[in-house]
Amino acid sequence: MTKEYIQSELQQMIQQLNDYAYHYYVLDSPIATDAQYDALYRQVERIEQQHPEWITPESPTQRVGDQLLAGFQKVSHAQAMYSLGNAFNEADIESFIDRVNKSVAGPVQFMCECKIDGLAVALTYENGRFIRGATRGDGTIGEDITHNLRTIPSIPLSLRQAISVEVRGEAYMPKDVFAQLNAQRDEQGEVPLANPRNAAAGALRQINPKAAKERKLNIFLYGAVVSDSFTPKSQADLFYQMQALGLRTNPFRRLCDTKAEVIEFIHEVGNARHELPYDIDGVVIKVNNFQQQNALGFTLKAPRWAIAYKFPAEVATTVVKQVEWTVGRTGVVTPTAVMDPVFLAGTTVQRATLHNIDFIEKLDVRLGDTVHLHKAGDIIPEVIEVLTAKRPAESIPLSIPTHCPQCQTELEQADGEVALRCVNPLCPAQQVAQLSHFVSRDAMNIVGLGKRIIEQLVQKDLVQTPADLYELTLDELLTLDKVKEKSAQKMLSAIEASKTQSVERLLFGLGIRHVGAKAARLMAETFGSMERIMNATQEELSAIEGLGTIISQSVIRYFSQLTSRALIERFSQLGVQLSYQGVTIEAADLADSPWLNKTVVITGTLEQFGRSELKAILEQRGAKVTSSVSKKTDIVIAGEAAGSKLTKAEELGIDIMDEVTLMQTLEQ
Ligand code: IVH
Repeated sequence: MTKEYIQSELQQMIQQLNDYAYHYYVLDSPIATDAQYDALYRQVERIEQQHPEWITPESPTQRVGDQLLAGFQKVSHAQAMYSLGNAFNEADIESFIDRVNKSVAGPVQFMCECKIDGLAVALTYENGRFIRGATRGDGTIGEDITHNLRTIPSIPLSLRQAISVEVRGEAYMPKDVFAQLNAQRDEQGEVPLANPRNAAAGALRQINPKAAKERKLNIFLYGAVVSDSFTPKSQADLFYQMQALGLRTNPFRRLCDTKAEVIEFIHEVGNARHELPYDIDGVVIKVNNFQQQNALGFTLKAPRWAIAYKFPAEVATTVVKQVEWTVGRTGVVTPTAVMDPVFLAGTTVQRATLHNIDFIEKLDVRLGDTVHLHKAGDIIPEVIEVLTAKRPAESIPLSIPTHCPQCQTELEQADGEVALRCVNPLCPAQQVAQLSHFVSRDAMNIVGLGKRIIEQLVQKDLVQTPADLYELTLDELLTLDKVKEKSAQKMLSAIEASKTQSVERLLFGLGIRHVGAKAARLMAETFGSMERIMNATQEELSAIEGLGTIISQSVIRYFSQLTSRALIERFSQLGVQLSYQGVTIEAADLADSPWLNKTVVITGTLEQFGRSELKAILEQRGAKVTSSVSKKTDIVIAGEAAGSKLTKAEELGIDIMDEVTLMQTLEQ
């Protein structure tokens, strides 16, 4: 193979990867499996390692750089980034629409869009290449955050047409990511973030792009600087053109002709907002036609052609009855207010986090107090204010525990930390939390071992560490409340079955600080076994794409403890799987696989394989398995009694493979 040939192959592979990412992140309709993407990504990585001179900034391997930023350069915006005037009720919207109609000639249409609770950013593309991303700053001067914006997978590194344009939009943190991040911060005794906007802003101001990437931001684009090379005529046209360029826009928008339609859209958004995966705080109403926009112009701060309708803050009033202190997996003790049930932002709420003692002291919340609640990031119920005027004379100040509510060990508060911690590693509450995590779905997935069972196992001293689960006997399980022989047998088989799973589940189940399911999978894929992970150096760990320094440091710290190593040794003696069962990166030399990038349909009954089993085998080898035969199908695998799919394949002249040939190619 000539060098030129390999280089052009590389470019094609990069294009293919970027196309996979576009379908996955922008269109939300994947055309490749994770395994296919990963396999191709690794091929690209390997070629680039051999030929660093061929690396281009558009390669997906270049999204996250290794360099820490020294600080943020100032960027002055070629065209100011304005903010928006606010409307708080229907009357405000009506007077905005009337004002617009009076000032411009002809009928006016309005583009109504969700107002995303994130951070405004500007993305500059030169000849189709993403060259700079900046924050809004004060509207005139922002900060260069290109390195961090490059980590957002839905921001294309190159546009689908090589034009020069500056587009603008909102970078945001999805609700579930925000909720997870804050739960984790509570668990680790860190100060929680107030809302997704602060979370997004914090992520984009990270000095280390790897840390920014871990915050899993996303983006919706909604604006652009019109120039000679980019000439949309209206907001609707702008969306259309941005989509054609491969930029992600929010489909929940509507072009409205009348006031009534605008109001109806606002109601629709209001009803749907709690179901959306991103947090919004209102609806932006924009004059659609750009000529009309230009005629209206700007005030000092905001355009006259747009307004932001803000939803009324969703706040509920209730009374605090009790405060519960719970001990988490890491020993951090967190307070939760238990209140009279109240309806708030789509659900009935009875419990709200009080985070930590600083939070309690600042609020000065007491038992019997009437409080205002809201939902941070539209998910996490939080007490925001105490109505002291309503405080009953007999209100009781909260007593901050000095000892663990479970094991009575004296609690500690480290210097500069807001968290109270139980430092007893044998604390039953910590053990219950750890075990619940160990058996959870993404970890060892041991069904039937609910919290009630685990609490009893710990209480009766039958189980202390997760390894003890594998030595439980039927008689021991039968001593538990309401456990009969049949369910005990089921638990034992579920425990036994969990032994054979691939090691990433065990690794995640250990509950190593900062190690989520994805990080565990990455380590397992890269190193192939627990032993190699335990002995990996910090450099080897942080070299894994997607694994930041925080995670790798934490893994090193965990395995530097003798108790951790002893635990792994026990798992090994008990016959728990300690190696990766998927295809490891080193083993996955997919380049030579005859199945790579082939679209395959399986039809009829096969003797040796179940359908889903064969599908998994082929996907591991780089194939894409689909269910219907079309011109795009490369191979049809036909078993016994294959019907119409086989006929169609024959008509289309597609390669047909019988089971014997299939076995032969798989053995190759
Ligand atoms: S248009 C000149 N559209 O809201 C027009 N802004 O309160 C400028 N925002 O700074 C903005 N979603 O950060 C626009 N669909 C949307 C938006 C949106 C969220 C933010 C943006 C802006 C702020 C103004």
